[in-house]
Amino acid sequence: MSLLSKSTALLLFVLCCASFTSTEAYDALDPNGNITVKWDIVSWTPDGYVALVTIYNYQQYRHIQAPGWSLGWTWANNEVIWSVVGGQTTEQGNCSRFKGNIPRCCKKSPTVVDLSPRAPHNQKIANCCKGGLISSMVQDPANAVSSFQLSVGSAGTNNRTVRIPKNITLNTPGPGYTCGPSRIVRSTIFMSADKRRVTSAFMTWNITCTYSQFLASKTPACCASLSSFNSKAIAPCPTCSCSCRKNNTVSRGCVNPKSPNVPVPSQKNITTPLVQCTSHMCPIKIQWHLKLNSKDYWRVRITIRNLNYHMNYKQWNLVVQHPNFDNLTQVFGSKYKALTLHSTTSNDAAMLWGIKDYNDVLMQAGRDGKAQLELLFRKDNTAFTSNKGWAFPQRIYFNGDSCVLPPPDAYPMVA
Ligand SMILES: *[C@@H]1O[C@H](CO)[C@@H](O)[C@H](O)[C@H]1NC(C)=O
Ligand SMILES: *[C@@H]1O[C@H](CO)[C@@H](O)[C@H](O)[C@H]1NC(C)=O
Ligand SMILES: *[C@@H]1O[C@H](CO)[C@@H](O)[C@H](O)[C@H]1NC(C)=O
Ligand SMILES: *[C@@H]1O[C@H](CO)[C@@H](O)[C@H](O)[C@H]1NC(C)=O
Ligand SMILES: *[C@@H]1O[C@H](CO)[C@@H](O)[C@H](O)[C@H]1NC(C)=O
Ligand SMILES: *[C@@H]1O[C@H](CO)[C@@H](O)[C@H](O)[C@H]1NC(C)=O
Ligand SMILES: *[C@@H]1O[C@H](CO)[C@@H](O)[C@H](O)[C@H]1NC(C)=O
Ligand SMILES: *[C@@H]1O[C@H](CO)[C@@H](O)[C@H](O)[C@H]1NC(C)=O
Repeated sequence: MSLLSKSTALLLFVLCCASFTSTEAYDALDPNGNITVKWDIVSWTPDGYVALVTIYNYQQYRHIQAPGWSLGWTWANNEVIWSVVGGQTTEQGNCSRFKGNIPRCCKKSPTVVDLSPRAPHNQKIANCCKGGLISSMVQDPANAVSSFQLSVGSAGTNNRTVRIPKNITLNTPGPGYTCGPSRIVRSTIFMSADKRRVTSAFMTWNITCTYSQFLASKTPACCASLSSFNSKAIAPCPTCSCSCRKNNTVSRGCVNPKSPNVPVPSQKNITTPLVQCTSHMCPIKIQWHLKLNSKDYWRVRITIRNLNYHMNYKQWNLVVQHPNFDNLTQVFGSKYKALTLHSTTSNDAAMLWGIKDYNDVLMQAGRDGKAQLELLFRKDNTAFTSNKGWAFPQRIYFNGDSCVLPPPDAYPMVA
C-alpha cells in the first residue's frame, strides 16, 4: 500500500515536472498552434524521387515575417538535390564525386529558402515565392502556407528503400521553433484543378514544429505603458524591459532622436535592431490609454510605436487579454477577432491587426513609425470597477511575443 502510494507520488512528480518543462512552448491562447511541414513524394525517378514540401502555419496569430523562413534537415544517406522549384538551396557543398551532370546541392545537411515574388515564372509553383513570408491563420489564411518542390537523387526509389530526412530545422531566420521527428502518415490526396481527377502521393511524411519565445530571444522585444485620461500618472514601460541603456555608450547602443545624425530608416539590416534611446530600449512600445469612462461605455486608444530604425513590421498584429472583451462594441482603425482562452468560454482575448493599405505596415522609427486604434466597450456595471488595474490589459502580445507590462501596483487609478 505504501509502496503503491510512493510510486503514485513518483508518477505524479514525473508528470508534474514533465508538463512543467513542456509549458514553455504551450500557449493558452493558441493551444493547437503549430507549423506542420509535409513531404509528399509525388513521383519516383531513376535514382530517387520528386517531393513536394509544404509548410503550413496553423498558428492563429504568429506569422513569419521578413527576411523569411529557412528549412534545413540532415539526409539519412548520401542523398543529393538535383533541382529545386519554388525555392533554392543556400549552399552547393562538395559535389566532386559527380562528373558531367552536377547536382544543385550535395550537402549532408542542406538548407532551402524561398524565392522572391520576382522569380522567373518557370521557377515557380503554387504557394511559393513570397520571400519566405507566411501569414498567420487568422490574418490571411490563404497565405498561411508555403511550398517548394525538390528532385532528390542517390536516394531510395520506392517506398521500402527511401529514407526519411532527419533533424528538420525551421529558422525564421533565427531560432524559436523546435521540430519533432518526421512521421509517415496517410498519403495526401491531390485533386486536379477541375476536380475531375484524384491522385495520391506515393508517401507522405509530417513534421510538427512548435514555437517558444524563450528560444527565439533571450530578451523581450516589446513593452507596454498604461495611462488614463483623468490622471497625470502613467505607468511607463518598466526600465530595462528589453535591455538596459548603457550610460557611456549612448551613441553606439541606440539613437538619440534629437541628435543631428539620426539614421535614415532602412530595410537593409532587419535582423539587427537599431533602437531609439529610451529607458526600456524596446523596438516596440505599446501605449494603452483609457480615453473615456462614461456611465455606459469606456473607450481605449492603443498606440503602437516602432522605435527600430532597421525595419518596418508588415502585417503586424496584437493580442490583448482583458476580461471585458465580451462587451466590446466597436473597433476603430483595425481588424478584430475574438480569441477564446482554452480554459474558459468567454471572449477574454482579442486579436487586432492593421487594415490593408491603411495601417497594416508599421513603418520604421520616426514620424511615421506608429499605428493607432481604438476600442469601445459597453460597460457591464456588475463587472466594471474603478479598482486599480481593472481597465488595463492582463497580457499584450505583439506579433506573437509577449510584451513587458508595468507591475500591477504601478497601474494608474481610474477614478
Ligand atoms: C497542429 O495544428 C493542427 C491545426 O491546429 C492540429 O490539427 C494538429 O493536431 C496540430 N499538431 C500537433 C502535433 O499538435
Ligand atoms: C570533396 O570530397 C572528396 C571525396 O568525395 C574529397 O576527396 C575532397 O577533398 C572534398 N573536397 C573538399 C573541398 O572538401
Ligand atoms: C508502398 O507501396 C505499395 C505499392 O504501391 C503499397 O501497397 C504500400 O502500402 C506502400 N507502403 C507505404 C508505407 O506507403
Ligand atoms: C541534429 O541536430 C543537432 C543540433 O544541430 C545535432 O546535435 C545532432 O547531431 C543532429 N542529429 C543528426 C542525426 O544529424
Ligand atoms: C499531415 O499534415 C497535413 C498538413 O498539415 C494534414 O492535412 C494531415 O492531416 C497531417 N496528417 C497527420 C496524420 O497528422
Ligand atoms: C547611469 O547614470 C545614472 C545617473 O547618472 C545612474 O543612476 C545609473 O546607475 C547609471 N547606469 C549605469 C548602467 O551605469
Ligand atoms: C547594420 O547595422 C550595424 C550595427 O548597427 C552597422 O554597423 C552596419 O553598418 C549596418 N549595415 C548596413 C548595411 O546598414
Ligand atoms: C457583457 O457581456 C456579458 C457576457 O456576454 C453579458 O452577460 C453582459 O450582459 C454584457 N454586458 C453588457 C452591458 O452588455
